[in-house]
Amino acid sequence: MALILRQACVADIPSIYRGEQDYIRRWEPDHEDAWRLQLERHLTRWVENFDRLTVAIKDNQFAGYSLWVPEQDCAELCTINVSQICRRNGIGRTLLDAYAATAKQRGFTRLSLSVHPDNPAGLMYERAGFICMGTGSHGYLRYERPS
Ligand SMILES: CC(C)(COP(=O)(O)OP(=O)(O)OC[C@H]1O[C@@H](n2cnc3c(N)ncnc32)[C@H](O)[C@@H]1OP(=O)(O)O)[C@@H](O)C(=O)NCCC(=O)NCCS
Repeated sequence: MALILRQACVADIPSIYRGEQDYIRRWEPDHEDAWRLQLERHLTRWVENFDRLTVAIKDNQFAGYSLWVPEQDCAELCTINVSQICRRNGIGRTLLDAYAATAKQRGFTRLSLSVHPDNPAGLMYERAGFICMGTGSHGYLRYERPS
């Protein structure tokens, strides 16, 4: 069945929460407690940017999501996540392309994001034309690209 991208709905929040939790446990285990303490702030961010929270549905199942926010003149990708069993099937790249297209439609000329230096997601960004601009906060690599 075809992959469908749609705007998130409230019923997606538990799956998104689990995706964020998996990410923290994998890439920032030392920060899980702090992340949990700031859950209310994260929820506020998801709700305030709900129209930029996109969900991927594959075979009628939740398969992933992405969220971007305006950050000065850039459209900043805050999170992109594909369910483990669905990875390496092009869903991440489809979400990434959709984010770029939507940001462009909404007048943003630059895209930006941060990635943990060991995270292979960096390869996906590089294949999509993102350029590493250096190291930002917490040792994360900063990437940018025109939209
Ligand atoms: C990063 C992530 C979203 C990629 O999703 P995905 O659906 O597996 O990605 P795609 O199948 O679209 O991959 C596109 C390309 O990116 C690269 N890529 C993606 N994951 C990769 C990996 N684990 N190792 C090496 N290259 C990878 C490959 O070039 C891939 O193309 P290919 O499969 O034809 O070789 C997914 O691994 C994920 O959810 N990770 C956990 C959350 C996370 O780390 N998010 C990024 C935060 S910055």
